[in-house]
Amino acid sequence: KILILDFGSQVTQLIARRVRDAGVFSEVYPYDVSDEFVRNYGAAGVILSGGPNSVIEGDDTPRVPQAVFELGVPVLGICYGMQAMAEQLGGKVENGKVREFGYAEVRAHGHTALLKDISDFTTPEGHGMLKVWMSHGDKVDELPPGFKLMASTPNCPIAGMADEARRMYAFQFHPEVTHTVQGKAIIARFVHEICGCKSDWNMPDYIAEAVEKIRQQVGTDEVILGLSGGVDSSVAAALIHRAIGDQLTCVFVDHGLLRLDEGKMVMEMFAENLGVNVIRIDAVDQFMGHLAGVSDPEAKRKIIGREFVEVFQVEAGKRKNAKWLAQGTIYPDVIESAGKGKKGHTIKSHHNVGGLPETLNLQLLEPLRELFKDEVRQLGVALGLPHDMVYRHPFPGPGLGVRILGEVKKEFADLLRRADAIFIDELRKTPFVLAAGASEATDNGIPHRNWYDATSQAFAVFLPVKSVGVMGDGRTYEYVVALRAVQTQDFMTAHWAHLPHELLGNVSNRIINEVRGINRVVYDISGKPPATIEWE
Ligand code: XMP
Repeated sequence: KILILDFGSQVTQLIARRVRDAGVFSEVYPYDVSDEFVRNYGAAGVILSGGPNSVIEGDDTPRVPQAVFELGVPVLGICYGMQAMAEQLGGKVENGKVREFGYAEVRAHGHTALLKDISDFTTPEGHGMLKVWMSHGDKVDELPPGFKLMASTPNCPIAGMADEARRMYAFQFHPEVTHTVQGKAIIARFVHEICGCKSDWNMPDYIAEAVEKIRQQVGTDEVILGLSGGVDSSVAAALIHRAIGDQLTCVFVDHGLLRLDEGKMVMEMFAENLGVNVIRIDAVDQFMGHLAGVSDPEAKRKIIGREFVEVFQVEAGKRKNAKWLAQGTIYPDVIESAGKGKKGHTIKSHHNVGGLPETLNLQLLEPLRELFKDEVRQLGVALGLPHDMVYRHPFPGPGLGVRILGEVKKEFADLLRRADAIFIDELRKTPFVLAAGASEATDNGIPHRNWYDATSQAFAVFLPVKSVGVMGDGRTYEYVVALRAVQTQDFMTAHWAHLPHELLGNVSNRIINEVRGINRVVYDISGKPPATIEWE
Protein backbone atom coordinates (compact mmCIF):
# COMPACT_ATOMS: atom_id res chain seq x y z
CA LYS A 1 0.00 0.00 0.00
CA ILE A 2 0.95 3.61 -0.59
CA LEU A 3 1.09 6.25 2.13
CA ILE A 4 0.06 9.74 1.05
CA LEU A 5 1.03 12.61 3.32
CA ASP A 6 -1.25 15.61 3.00
CA PHE A 7 0.23 19.10 3.09
CA GLY A 8 -3.16 20.71 2.56
CA SER A 9 -3.62 20.77 -1.20
CA GLN A 10 -7.17 20.98 -2.58
CA VAL A 11 -6.46 17.95 -4.73
CA THR A 12 -4.79 15.54 -2.31
CA GLN A 13 -7.75 13.17 -2.47
CA LEU A 14 -7.18 12.84 -6.21
CA ILE A 15 -3.76 11.34 -5.55
CA ALA A 16 -5.42 8.54 -3.60
CA ARG A 17 -8.00 8.14 -6.37
CA ARG A 18 -5.29 7.81 -9.03
CA VAL A 19 -3.30 5.31 -7.00
CA ARG A 20 -6.43 3.23 -6.46
CA ASP A 21 -7.25 3.53 -10.17
CA ALA A 22 -3.93 1.80 -10.70
CA GLY A 23 -5.27 -1.02 -8.53
CA VAL A 24 -3.19 -0.19 -5.46
CA PHE A 25 -4.58 0.61 -2.04
CA SER A 26 -3.64 4.00 -0.63
CA GLU A 27 -4.54 6.21 2.30
CA VAL A 28 -4.13 9.90 3.10
CA TYR A 29 -2.71 11.05 6.44
CA PRO A 30 -1.79 14.52 7.66
CA TYR A 31 1.86 15.46 7.05
CA ASP A 32 2.60 15.73 10.77
CA VAL A 33 2.25 12.03 11.63
CA SER A 34 5.09 10.77 13.81
CA ASP A 35 8.25 9.10 12.56
CA GLU A 36 7.12 6.01 14.42
CA PHE A 37 3.83 5.99 12.52
CA VAL A 38 5.70 6.22 9.23
CA ARG A 39 8.04 3.38 10.19
CA ASN A 40 5.21 1.10 11.31
CA TYR A 41 2.82 1.84 8.45
CA GLY A 42 4.27 -0.68 6.05
CA ALA A 43 4.18 1.56 2.97
CA ALA A 44 5.62 0.31 -0.29
CA GLY A 45 6.01 3.96 -1.27
CA VAL A 46 5.22 7.45 -0.01
CA ILE A 47 3.68 10.35 -1.91
CA LEU A 48 3.96 13.91 -0.58
CA SER A 49 1.09 16.17 -1.65
CA GLY A 50 1.04 19.80 -2.60
CA GLY A 51 0.00 22.49 -0.15
CA PRO A 52 -0.60 26.21 0.33
CA ASN A 53 2.50 26.99 2.43
CA SER A 54 5.94 28.22 1.50
CA VAL A 55 9.02 26.38 2.82
CA ILE A 56 11.05 29.57 2.69
CA GLU A 57 8.86 31.19 5.31
CA GLY A 58 10.81 29.34 7.97
CA ASP A 59 11.21 26.11 9.85
CA ASP A 60 7.72 26.15 11.31
CA THR A 61 6.15 25.60 7.89
CA PRO A 62 5.23 21.95 7.25
CA ARG A 63 8.07 19.46 6.94
CA VAL A 64 8.19 15.84 5.85
CA PRO A 65 8.68 13.40 8.75
CA GLN A 66 12.39 12.52 8.62
CA ALA A 67 11.57 8.81 8.70
CA VAL A 68 10.11 9.07 5.18
CA PHE A 69 13.60 9.67 3.79
CA GLU A 70 15.11 6.88 5.87
CA LEU A 71 12.59 4.13 5.10
CA GLY A 72 14.34 3.04 1.94
CA VAL A 73 11.05 2.96 -0.02
CA PRO A 74 10.39 5.16 -3.07
CA VAL A 75 9.14 8.71 -2.44
CA LEU A 76 7.28 10.98 -4.85
CA GLY A 77 6.98 14.67 -3.99
CA ILE A 78 4.37 16.82 -5.70
CA CYS A 79 4.46 20.65 -5.73
CA TYR A 80 4.91 21.64 -2.07
CA GLY A 81 5.96 18.03 -1.45
CA MET A 82 8.81 18.56 -3.93
CA GLN A 83 9.85 21.82 -2.32
CA ALA A 84 9.85 20.36 1.20
CA MET A 85 11.83 17.41 -0.10
CA ALA A 86 14.39 19.66 -1.79
CA GLU A 87 14.73 21.85 1.30
CA GLN A 88 15.16 18.93 3.69
CA LEU A 89 17.60 17.03 1.50
CA GLY A 90 19.99 19.94 1.02
CA GLY A 91 18.69 21.72 -2.07
CA LYS A 92 17.44 25.31 -2.32
CA VAL A 93 13.96 26.70 -2.78
CA GLU A 94 13.36 30.23 -3.98
CA ASN A 95 10.43 32.52 -4.30
CA GLY A 96 9.73 32.37 -8.03
CA LYS A 97 9.52 35.69 -9.86
CA VAL A 98 6.98 34.31 -12.26
CA ARG A 99 4.05 32.45 -10.76
CA GLU A 100 2.58 29.72 -12.90
CA PHE A 101 -0.94 28.36 -12.59
CA GLY A 102 -2.76 26.12 -14.97
CA TYR A 103 -1.78 24.62 -18.30
CA ALA A 104 1.91 24.30 -19.06
CA GLU A 105 4.11 22.35 -21.40
CA VAL A 106 7.00 20.72 -19.64
CA ARG A 107 10.06 19.21 -21.21
CA ALA A 108 10.32 15.64 -19.97
CA HIS A 109 13.83 14.35 -19.42
CA GLY A 110 13.15 10.73 -20.17
CA HIS A 111 16.35 9.28 -18.80
CA THR A 112 14.71 8.37 -15.49
CA ALA A 113 12.79 5.17 -14.83
CA LEU A 114 9.75 7.27 -13.93
CA LEU A 115 9.40 9.26 -17.18
CA LYS A 116 11.09 6.96 -19.70
CA ASP A 117 8.92 6.76 -22.86
CA ILE A 118 6.16 8.89 -21.33
CA SER A 119 5.38 12.10 -23.24
CA ASP A 120 2.53 13.80 -25.09
CA PHE A 121 4.43 15.03 -28.11
CA THR A 122 7.94 15.61 -29.40
CA THR A 123 9.33 19.01 -30.40
CA PRO A 124 11.12 19.49 -33.73
CA GLU A 125 14.38 19.36 -31.76
CA GLY A 126 13.36 15.93 -30.54
CA HIS A 127 12.46 16.79 -26.93
CA GLY A 128 9.66 14.80 -25.30
CA MET A 129 7.00 17.15 -23.90
CA LEU A 130 4.28 16.73 -21.27
CA LYS A 131 1.03 18.71 -21.11
CA VAL A 132 0.54 19.35 -17.43
CA TRP A 133 -1.30 21.36 -14.82
CA MET A 134 1.20 23.52 -12.99
CA SER A 135 0.75 25.56 -9.86
CA HIS A 136 3.56 27.27 -8.08
CA GLY A 137 4.81 30.47 -6.57
CA ASP A 138 8.00 29.03 -5.07
CA LYS A 139 10.28 26.73 -6.98
CA VAL A 140 13.31 24.57 -6.47
CA ASP A 141 16.38 26.59 -7.43
CA GLU A 142 19.17 24.17 -6.66
CA LEU A 143 19.00 20.37 -6.77
CA PRO A 144 19.80 18.54 -3.54
CA PRO A 145 22.99 16.42 -3.68
CA GLY A 146 22.46 13.20 -5.59
CA PHE A 147 19.49 14.51 -7.62
CA LYS A 148 19.35 15.11 -11.37
CA LEU A 149 16.98 17.10 -13.51
CA MET A 150 13.84 15.22 -14.64
CA ALA A 151 11.61 17.95 -16.12
CA SER A 152 11.83 21.65 -16.94
CA THR A 153 10.01 24.69 -18.34
CA PRO A 154 11.43 28.10 -19.25
CA ASN A 155 9.87 29.62 -16.10
CA CYS A 156 10.66 26.69 -13.90
CA PRO A 157 14.00 25.19 -14.85
CA ILE A 158 13.65 22.48 -12.19
CA ALA A 159 10.08 21.20 -12.76
CA GLY A 160 11.05 17.66 -11.85
CA MET A 161 14.00 16.01 -10.12
CA ALA A 162 15.11 12.48 -9.33
CA ASP A 163 17.63 10.63 -7.21
CA GLU A 164 17.35 7.21 -8.74
CA ALA A 165 19.79 5.55 -6.37
CA ARG A 166 17.47 6.38 -3.48
CA ARG A 167 14.33 6.09 -5.66
CA MET A 168 13.23 9.63 -4.84
CA TYR A 169 11.27 11.58 -7.43
CA ALA A 170 9.48 14.90 -7.47
CA PHE A 171 7.43 17.13 -9.73
CA GLN A 172 6.48 20.77 -9.50
CA PHE A 173 3.32 20.04 -11.51
CA HIS A 174 0.34 17.92 -10.46
CA PRO A 175 0.25 14.44 -12.01
CA GLU A 176 -2.92 13.62 -10.03
CA VAL A 177 -5.26 15.98 -11.91
CA THR A 178 -6.82 14.94 -15.20
CA HIS A 179 -5.49 18.08 -16.93
CA THR A 180 -2.07 16.47 -16.73
CA VAL A 181 -2.58 14.18 -19.69
CA GLN A 182 0.03 11.56 -18.75
CA GLY A 183 -0.67 11.88 -15.01
CA LYS A 184 -2.36 8.52 -14.81
CA ALA A 185 0.52 6.83 -16.58
CA ILE A 186 3.09 8.55 -14.36
CA ILE A 187 1.34 7.53 -11.15
CA ALA A 188 0.78 3.99 -12.41
CA ARG A 189 4.48 3.80 -13.32
CA PHE A 190 5.45 5.03 -9.87
CA VAL A 191 3.33 2.58 -7.89
CA HIS A 192 3.80 -0.48 -10.13
CA GLU A 193 7.33 -0.27 -11.37
CA ILE A 194 9.12 1.97 -8.92
CA CYS A 195 7.34 0.80 -5.74
CA GLY A 196 6.68 -2.73 -7.01
CA CYS A 197 3.00 -2.80 -5.97
CA LYS A 198 0.66 -5.24 -7.69
CA SER A 199 -2.82 -4.32 -8.95
CA ASP A 200 -4.86 -6.06 -6.29
CA TRP A 201 -7.36 -3.42 -5.26
CA ASN A 202 -10.60 -4.65 -6.83
CA MET A 203 -14.20 -5.00 -5.67
CA PRO A 204 -14.70 -8.76 -5.29
CA ASP A 205 -11.54 -9.06 -3.20
CA TYR A 206 -12.48 -5.97 -1.29
CA ILE A 207 -15.89 -7.41 -0.42
CA ALA A 208 -14.36 -10.65 0.81
CA GLU A 209 -11.89 -8.75 2.99
CA ALA A 210 -14.47 -6.29 4.29
CA VAL A 211 -16.88 -9.08 5.18
CA GLU A 212 -14.17 -10.91 7.09
CA LYS A 213 -13.18 -7.73 8.92
CA ILE A 214 -16.77 -6.98 9.96
CA ARG A 215 -17.22 -10.53 11.27
CA GLN A 216 -14.06 -10.29 13.32
CA GLN A 217 -14.94 -6.86 14.61
CA VAL A 218 -18.46 -7.58 15.85
CA GLY A 219 -18.30 -11.29 16.63
CA THR A 220 -21.76 -12.34 17.79
CA ASP A 221 -22.90 -8.85 18.79
CA GLU A 222 -25.92 -7.10 17.34
CA VAL A 223 -25.52 -4.05 15.11
CA ILE A 224 -28.00 -1.27 14.40
CA LEU A 225 -27.91 1.09 11.45
CA GLY A 226 -29.94 4.16 10.51
CA LEU A 227 -31.06 3.47 6.97
CA SER A 228 -32.04 6.61 5.05
CA GLY A 229 -32.44 5.34 1.51
CA GLY A 230 -29.35 7.32 0.50
CA VAL A 231 -26.44 5.64 -1.27
CA ASP A 232 -24.00 5.45 1.64
CA SER A 233 -26.28 3.98 4.29
CA SER A 234 -27.80 1.60 1.74
CA VAL A 235 -24.45 0.22 0.64
CA ALA A 236 -23.29 -0.04 4.26
CA ALA A 237 -26.46 -1.99 5.09
CA ALA A 238 -26.00 -4.37 2.16
CA LEU A 239 -22.35 -4.99 3.04
CA ILE A 240 -22.94 -5.56 6.75
CA HIS A 241 -25.90 -7.80 5.98
CA ARG A 242 -23.67 -9.84 3.69
CA ALA A 243 -21.25 -10.24 6.60
CA ILE A 244 -23.52 -10.90 9.58
CA GLY A 245 -27.07 -11.39 8.26
CA ASP A 246 -29.64 -11.22 11.03
CA GLN A 247 -27.27 -9.70 13.55
CA LEU A 248 -27.95 -6.44 11.70
CA THR A 249 -31.11 -4.43 12.30
CA CYS A 250 -31.80 -1.31 10.26
CA VAL A 251 -33.95 1.51 11.52
CA PHE A 252 -35.73 3.54 8.87
CA VAL A 253 -37.27 6.74 10.20
CA ASP A 254 -40.03 8.30 8.13
CA HIS A 255 -40.09 11.92 9.23
CA GLY A 256 -42.56 12.95 6.58
CA LEU A 257 -39.90 14.82 4.63
CA LEU A 258 -38.83 12.01 2.33
CA ARG A 259 -39.21 11.72 -1.42
CA LEU A 260 -42.31 10.13 -2.92
CA ASP A 261 -42.58 6.41 -2.11
CA GLU A 262 -39.18 6.39 -0.42
CA GLY A 263 -40.42 4.27 2.47
CA LYS A 264 -42.03 1.78 0.16
CA MET A 265 -38.88 1.54 -1.94
CA VAL A 266 -36.60 1.01 1.04
CA MET A 267 -38.83 -1.71 2.48
CA GLU A 268 -39.10 -3.49 -0.86
CA MET A 269 -35.42 -3.34 -1.55
CA PHE A 270 -34.07 -4.27 1.83
CA ALA A 271 -36.74 -6.14 3.74
CA GLU A 272 -38.30 -8.03 0.82
CA ASN A 273 -35.53 -8.46 -1.75
CA LEU A 274 -32.44 -8.72 0.43
CA GLY A 275 -34.07 -10.11 3.56
CA VAL A 276 -32.58 -7.46 5.85
CA ASN A 277 -34.25 -6.76 9.22
CA VAL A 278 -35.70 -3.28 8.82
CA ILE A 279 -37.83 -1.51 11.40
CA ARG A 280 -39.85 1.26 9.79
CA ILE A 281 -40.85 4.01 12.16
CA ASP A 282 -43.61 6.40 11.31
CA ALA A 283 -42.62 9.60 13.08
CA VAL A 284 -44.42 12.02 10.77
CA ASP A 285 -46.67 13.51 13.45
CA GLN A 286 -43.82 13.92 15.89
CA PHE A 287 -41.66 15.80 13.37
CA MET A 288 -44.50 17.92 12.02
CA GLY A 289 -45.56 18.78 15.55
CA HIS A 290 -42.12 20.08 16.47
CA LEU A 291 -41.72 21.94 13.19
CA ALA A 292 -45.04 23.75 13.46
CA GLY A 293 -44.58 27.51 13.58
CA VAL A 294 -40.82 27.36 12.91
CA SER A 295 -39.60 29.12 9.80
CA ASP A 296 -35.90 29.80 10.41
CA PRO A 297 -33.82 27.40 8.25
CA GLU A 298 -31.16 26.66 10.85
CA ALA A 299 -33.78 26.17 13.57
CA LYS A 300 -35.59 23.71 11.28
CA ARG A 301 -32.39 21.78 10.66
CA LYS A 302 -31.66 21.57 14.37
CA ILE A 303 -35.15 20.31 15.17
CA ILE A 304 -35.02 17.65 12.47
CA GLY A 305 -31.55 16.52 13.62
CA ARG A 306 -32.57 16.47 17.27
CA GLU A 307 -35.81 14.57 16.67
CA PHE A 308 -33.99 12.06 14.50
CA VAL A 309 -31.55 11.30 17.32
CA GLU A 310 -34.48 11.09 19.72
CA VAL A 311 -36.43 8.57 17.63
CA PHE A 312 -33.33 6.56 16.87
CA GLN A 313 -32.30 6.45 20.52
CA VAL A 314 -35.67 5.11 21.67
CA GLU A 315 -35.45 2.37 19.07
CA ALA A 316 -31.84 1.55 19.91
CA GLY A 317 -32.73 1.43 23.59
CA LYS A 318 -35.19 -1.36 22.87
CA ARG A 319 -32.48 -3.51 21.39
CA LYS A 320 -30.67 -4.52 24.51
CA ASN A 321 -28.09 -6.67 22.75
CA ALA A 322 -27.04 -4.02 20.27
CA LYS A 323 -23.41 -3.15 20.85
CA TRP A 324 -22.59 -1.46 17.57
CA LEU A 325 -23.87 1.52 15.65
CA ALA A 326 -23.14 1.23 11.93
CA GLN A 327 -22.76 4.36 9.81
CA GLY A 328 -22.18 4.98 6.13
CA THR A 329 -19.24 7.32 6.71
CA ILE A 330 -17.13 7.46 3.56
CA TYR A 331 -13.51 8.44 3.00
CA PRO A 332 -14.02 12.08 2.04
CA ASP A 333 -15.96 12.56 5.33
CA VAL A 334 -13.01 11.07 7.20
CA ILE A 335 -10.45 13.30 5.50
CA GLU A 336 -12.68 16.32 5.95
CA SER A 337 -13.15 15.84 9.67
CA ALA A 338 -9.45 15.08 10.13
CA GLY A 339 -8.68 18.54 8.69
CA LYS A 340 -6.63 20.65 11.01
CA GLY A 341 -9.35 23.11 11.94
CA LYS A 342 -8.71 25.17 8.84
CA LYS A 343 -12.12 24.48 7.37
CA GLY A 344 -14.23 27.35 6.14
CA HIS A 345 -16.88 28.57 8.51
CA THR A 346 -20.16 26.72 8.53
CA ILE A 347 -22.49 28.14 5.94
CA LYS A 348 -25.13 25.54 6.71
CA SER A 349 -25.05 22.99 9.50
CA HIS A 350 -25.22 19.48 8.10
CA HIS A 351 -27.11 17.60 10.74
CA ASN A 352 -26.33 14.04 9.82
CA VAL A 353 -22.63 14.36 10.48
CA GLY A 354 -22.03 13.35 14.09
CA GLY A 355 -24.58 13.61 16.85
CA LEU A 356 -25.51 10.00 17.33
CA PRO A 357 -22.41 8.36 18.77
CA GLU A 358 -22.05 10.53 21.89
CA THR A 359 -25.59 10.02 23.07
CA LEU A 360 -25.68 6.27 22.50
CA ASN A 361 -23.49 3.87 24.33
CA LEU A 362 -22.47 2.02 21.21
CA GLN A 363 -19.26 1.35 19.35
CA LEU A 364 -18.99 2.68 15.82
CA LEU A 365 -18.89 0.36 12.83
CA GLU A 366 -18.00 2.24 9.64
CA PRO A 367 -17.21 -0.25 6.90
CA LEU A 368 -17.07 2.35 4.09
CA ARG A 369 -14.48 4.55 5.79
CA GLU A 370 -11.83 3.73 3.22
CA LEU A 371 -13.90 4.29 0.11
CA PHE A 372 -14.51 7.18 -2.23
CA LYS A 373 -18.03 7.85 -3.46
CA ASP A 374 -17.64 6.14 -6.80
CA GLU A 375 -16.05 3.14 -5.10
CA VAL A 376 -19.05 3.00 -2.77
CA ARG A 377 -21.25 2.93 -5.87
CA GLN A 378 -19.22 0.14 -7.48
CA LEU A 379 -19.44 -1.77 -4.22
CA GLY A 380 -23.22 -1.29 -4.14
CA VAL A 381 -23.57 -2.71 -7.64
CA ALA A 382 -21.27 -5.61 -6.79
CA LEU A 383 -23.47 -6.35 -3.76
CA GLY A 384 -26.54 -6.53 -5.97
CA LEU A 385 -28.15 -3.13 -5.38
CA PRO A 386 -29.88 -1.74 -8.48
CA HIS A 387 -27.95 0.68 -10.65
CA ASP A 388 -30.60 3.40 -10.36
CA MET A 389 -30.49 3.36 -6.59
CA VAL A 390 -26.72 3.35 -6.39
CA TYR A 391 -26.41 6.25 -8.83
CA ARG A 392 -29.08 8.41 -7.22
CA HIS A 393 -28.51 12.10 -6.65
CA PRO A 394 -27.63 13.06 -3.08
CA PHE A 395 -30.51 13.95 -0.80
CA PRO A 396 -29.98 16.13 2.27
CA GLY A 397 -30.50 14.68 5.75
CA PRO A 398 -33.26 17.20 6.62
CA GLY A 399 -34.94 16.19 3.38
CA LEU A 400 -37.84 18.24 2.11
CA GLY A 401 -37.54 20.24 5.32
CA VAL A 402 -35.03 22.50 3.58
CA ARG A 403 -36.96 22.50 0.30
CA ILE A 404 -40.19 23.85 1.78
CA LEU A 405 -39.33 27.48 2.37
CA GLY A 406 -40.35 28.78 5.76
CA GLU A 407 -42.76 26.82 7.89
CA VAL A 408 -43.03 23.12 7.11
CA LYS A 409 -46.53 21.68 6.84
CA LYS A 410 -47.57 18.20 5.90
CA GLU A 411 -49.84 19.58 3.18
CA PHE A 412 -46.87 21.37 1.57
CA ALA A 413 -44.68 18.28 1.82
CA ASP A 414 -47.35 16.23 0.03
CA LEU A 415 -47.55 18.71 -2.86
CA LEU A 416 -43.79 19.02 -3.13
CA ARG A 417 -43.21 15.26 -3.12
CA ARG A 418 -45.49 14.84 -6.11
CA ALA A 419 -44.04 17.76 -8.06
CA ASP A 420 -40.53 16.51 -7.35
CA ALA A 421 -41.36 12.98 -8.53
CA ILE A 422 -42.68 14.36 -11.83
CA PHE A 423 -39.49 16.38 -12.36
CA ILE A 424 -37.29 13.35 -11.67
CA ASP A 425 -39.44 11.12 -13.84
CA GLU A 426 -39.13 13.48 -16.82
CA LEU A 427 -35.38 13.82 -16.30
CA ARG A 428 -35.01 10.06 -16.37
CA LYS A 429 -37.24 9.75 -19.43
CA THR A 430 -35.46 12.38 -21.52
CA PRO A 431 -32.41 11.01 -23.36
CA PHE A 432 -29.22 12.97 -22.99
CA VAL A 433 -27.80 13.91 -26.36
CA LEU A 434 -24.32 15.34 -26.57
CA ALA A 435 -24.03 18.72 -28.26
CA ALA A 436 -22.23 18.54 -31.61
CA GLY A 437 -18.50 18.41 -31.05
CA ALA A 438 -18.78 17.97 -27.27
CA SER A 439 -16.59 15.33 -25.74
CA GLU A 440 -18.33 12.45 -24.03
CA ALA A 441 -19.56 13.36 -20.55
CA THR A 442 -19.32 10.54 -18.06
CA ASP A 443 -19.06 9.84 -14.37
CA ASN A 444 -15.99 7.68 -14.10
CA GLY A 445 -16.63 5.81 -17.29
CA ILE A 446 -20.41 5.48 -16.96
CA PRO A 447 -21.98 7.36 -19.87
CA HIS A 448 -24.96 9.62 -19.28
CA ARG A 449 -28.07 7.93 -20.62
CA ASN A 450 -30.55 10.65 -19.76
CA TRP A 451 -30.81 14.06 -18.14
CA TYR A 452 -30.97 12.57 -14.66
CA ASP A 453 -27.49 11.10 -15.20
CA ALA A 454 -26.32 14.33 -16.78
CA THR A 455 -27.20 16.42 -13.71
CA SER A 456 -25.55 16.11 -10.31
CA GLN A 457 -28.59 17.05 -8.29
CA ALA A 458 -32.12 18.00 -9.34
CA PHE A 459 -35.22 18.64 -7.29
CA ALA A 460 -38.30 20.79 -6.79
CA VAL A 461 -38.64 23.49 -4.13
CA PHE A 462 -41.94 24.58 -2.58
CA LEU A 463 -42.50 28.34 -2.39
CA PRO A 464 -45.25 29.29 0.03
CA VAL A 465 -46.42 32.20 -2.10
CA LYS A 466 -49.64 32.26 -4.03
CA SER A 467 -50.00 33.66 -7.51
CA VAL A 468 -52.91 34.04 -9.88
CA GLY A 469 -53.57 31.76 -12.82
CA VAL A 470 -56.35 30.59 -15.11
CA MET A 471 -57.38 27.01 -15.59
CA GLY A 472 -60.29 26.22 -17.84
CA ASP A 473 -62.77 29.02 -17.21
CA GLY A 474 -61.71 29.59 -13.65
CA ARG A 475 -59.26 31.84 -11.91
CA THR A 476 -56.79 30.04 -9.65
CA TYR A 477 -54.78 31.40 -6.75
CA GLU A 478 -52.25 28.78 -5.80
CA TYR A 479 -48.67 27.99 -4.80
CA VAL A 480 -45.43 28.11 -6.82
CA VAL A 481 -42.87 25.35 -7.35
CA ALA A 482 -39.28 26.13 -8.37
CA LEU A 483 -37.17 23.58 -10.22
CA ARG A 484 -33.47 23.33 -9.45
CA ALA A 485 -30.94 21.28 -11.43
CA VAL A 486 -27.19 21.66 -11.11
CA GLN A 487 -24.02 20.18 -12.51
CA THR A 488 -20.99 19.98 -10.26
CA GLN A 489 -17.94 17.87 -9.45
CA ASP A 490 -17.73 18.47 -5.74
CA PHE A 491 -20.90 20.36 -4.69
CA MET A 492 -18.73 23.25 -3.49
CA THR A 493 -19.35 25.15 -6.69
CA ALA A 494 -22.06 24.36 -9.22
CA HIS A 495 -23.54 25.52 -12.52
CA TRP A 496 -27.26 25.54 -13.16
CA ALA A 497 -28.04 22.89 -15.73
CA HIS A 498 -29.00 24.03 -19.22
CA LEU A 499 -31.95 21.66 -19.47
CA PRO A 500 -33.72 21.51 -22.84
CA HIS A 501 -36.70 23.89 -22.96
CA GLU A 502 -38.95 21.08 -24.09
CA LEU A 503 -38.08 19.04 -21.03
CA LEU A 504 -38.80 22.04 -18.79
CA GLY A 505 -42.07 22.59 -20.63
CA ASN A 506 -43.18 19.00 -20.09
CA VAL A 507 -42.35 19.14 -16.42
CA SER A 508 -44.24 22.40 -15.97
CA ASN A 509 -47.34 21.10 -17.79
CA ARG A 510 -47.41 17.89 -15.86
CA ILE A 511 -46.93 19.51 -12.46
CA ILE A 512 -49.66 22.08 -13.04
CA ASN A 513 -52.07 19.50 -14.45
CA GLU A 514 -51.37 16.72 -12.02
CA VAL A 515 -50.67 18.48 -8.75
CA ARG A 516 -53.73 20.39 -7.53
CA GLY A 517 -52.55 23.35 -5.53
CA ILE A 518 -49.66 24.37 -7.82
CA ASN A 519 -50.40 26.73 -10.69
CA ARG A 520 -46.96 28.09 -11.52
CA VAL A 521 -43.54 26.52 -12.11
CA VAL A 522 -40.29 28.50 -12.35
CA TYR A 523 -36.70 27.44 -13.12
CA ASP A 524 -33.78 28.50 -10.91
CA ILE A 525 -30.90 29.89 -12.98
CA SER A 526 -28.47 30.76 -10.18
CA GLY A 527 -24.99 29.34 -9.87
CA LYS A 528 -23.17 28.42 -6.67
CA PRO A 529 -21.74 30.75 -5.61
CA PRO A 530 -23.49 33.11 -5.07
CA ALA A 531 -26.57 30.91 -4.48
CA THR A 532 -26.35 27.58 -2.66
CA ILE A 533 -27.71 24.40 -4.21
CA GLU A 534 -30.54 24.03 -1.70
CA TRP A 535 -32.77 27.02 -1.15
CA GLU A 536 -32.38 26.97 2.63
P1 XMP B 1 -25.66 23.66 -0.55
O1 XMP B 1 -27.12 23.96 -0.45
O2 XMP B 1 -24.91 24.00 0.71
O3 XMP B 1 -25.58 22.10 -0.70
O4 XMP B 1 -25.04 24.24 -1.77
C1 XMP B 1 -24.43 21.35 -1.00
C2 XMP B 1 -24.79 19.89 -0.90
O5 XMP B 1 -25.06 19.54 0.47
C3 XMP B 1 -26.39 19.05 0.60
N1 XMP B 1 -26.94 19.58 1.86
C4 XMP B 1 -27.14 18.87 2.97
N2 XMP B 1 -26.92 17.57 3.23
N3 XMP B 1 -27.74 17.88 5.43
C5 XMP B 1 -27.25 17.08 4.46
O6 XMP B 1 -27.10 15.89 4.71
C6 XMP B 1 -27.97 19.20 5.25
O7 XMP B 1 -28.42 19.90 6.14
C7 XMP B 1 -27.66 19.72 3.94
N4 XMP B 1 -27.74 20.95 3.38
C8 XMP B 1 -27.30 20.85 2.11
C9 XMP B 1 -27.13 19.55 -0.62
O8 XMP B 1 -28.23 18.71 -0.90
C10 XMP B 1 -26.06 19.52 -1.67
O9 XMP B 1 -25.87 18.21 -2.18
